[in-house]
Amino acid sequence: MVDLDVIRSSNTTIVRSQPLVAVFFGGTSGIGHYTLRALATAESHGGKGLRAYLIGRKAEAAEAIVAECRKLYPAGEYIFVQANDLSLLRDVDRVCIEIMSLERGKSANPRIDYLMLSQGGAPFQPRKDTQEGIDATMSLLYYSRMRALTNLLPLLLQSPLPATAVSVYAAGYEGKLYPEDLSLRNPKLYSYNQARSHMIYMHTWFMDRLAEQHRGQLRLVHIFPGLVLGPAFQSPELPVWFRVFWRWVFVPLFGRLVSVPTGECGDRMLGLLSPNRYPPRRDAITAGSGVQQQGSRKEDVAVGTDGKPGSGVYSLNWKGESNINLKAYGKFDPAEMKAKIWEHTMKVFETIEAGDVFKD
Ligand SMILES: NC(=O)c1ccc[n+]([C@@H]2O[C@H](COP(=O)([O-])OP(=O)(O)OC[C@H]3O[C@@H](n4cnc5c(N)ncnc54)[C@H](OP(=O)(O)O)[C@@H]3O)[C@@H](O)[C@H]2O)c1
Repeated sequence: MVDLDVIRSSNTTIVRSQPLVAVFFGGTSGIGHYTLRALATAESHGGKGLRAYLIGRKAEAAEAIVAECRKLYPAGEYIFVQANDLSLLRDVDRVCIEIMSLERGKSANPRIDYLMLSQGGAPFQPRKDTQEGIDATMSLLYYSRMRALTNLLPLLLQSPLPATAVSVYAAGYEGKLYPEDLSLRNPKLYSYNQARSHMIYMHTWFMDRLAEQHRGQLRLVHIFPGLVLGPAFQSPELPVWFRVFWRWVFVPLFGRLVSVPTGECGDRMLGLLSPNRYPPRRDAITAGSGVQQQGSRKEDVAVGTDGKPGSGVYSLNWKGESNINLKAYGKFDPAEMKAKIWEHTMKVFETIEAGDVFKD
């Protein structure tokens, strides 16, 4: 495990090295909030400047978070961009256009250095298709996130760091995969856990493909944050059995023992900005061969999704260590699956962009 002090010191070093632009999809609650708070706190110790965009539905929650961050770091700029429903890709597109236009209007050097994607609904929901034809859970946790990531590429590619994009979900929880029914249309196959497994594989292969297209320019992470006791667990959308078990059994007995404190979670999520530990994918010859940045030790470099150190795409546990399940991925031809997932995801995007309903 990377020591928390090491992470905090790396966070301080980064904020002191340049002003940062950060975007938080899901910044109005939970892990997005904790990470933004960690960033504002780090900036308050001699940071060079911060512009942060928070995206979510609840304006009141956003106002409270902005007020909290202004207290921590008054020199920062905090901008709320309201979403209506990010399970709809047209809402993701609208929000991204607004972020890009605001950022271009505010800076001679528009960019995004850190993108967090933590929008999410309650788990254990039955399948429910959006008007655009995809399951709402799969959309919030995979399609809407990859859509935001690709929409915002023009600004991400301008980051000198280079940029880090972090999707917070369930990396490492791969189970079965049905490559011929990626959308899980067959009702006999659909369950929340099965959808989760599909979304994790798809994160890895989609991100791998993106990293190959933008070598040296992007650092892509999907991460399981551990158990972080925030507002998500009070959601009325959760099934009654879960809420009863959670409130009266799990939290009183085990909550403190097994959860990651919210402050630590924020610091660790921010720690993914470390260019030494999480470098981008390099050129074809050196890719995955543990390319070291100046000043980093080889043992500090995280292992990427291809099982090699420093290969630009990272599947991580809550401690920021690789949890890539090579045995699960070993059952598939990686080149074939990267192409398949890319084509499937692009087909979803193109169909919906054309105003049609996705049916495959
Ligand atoms: N917390 C944990 O222990 C834990 C563990 C494993 C995985 N995760 C995953 O990590 C992610 C973040 O978790 P969290 O605890 O931070 O959750 P959270 O506190 O519930 O925050 C979710 C965020 O997503 C936004 N959101 C949800 N549905 C939306 C929609 N339809 N349209 C627009 N925005 C929407 C919420 O915005 P508004 O509130 O403004 O509507 C909020 O900002 C989730 O995907 C979760 O599955 C969490």
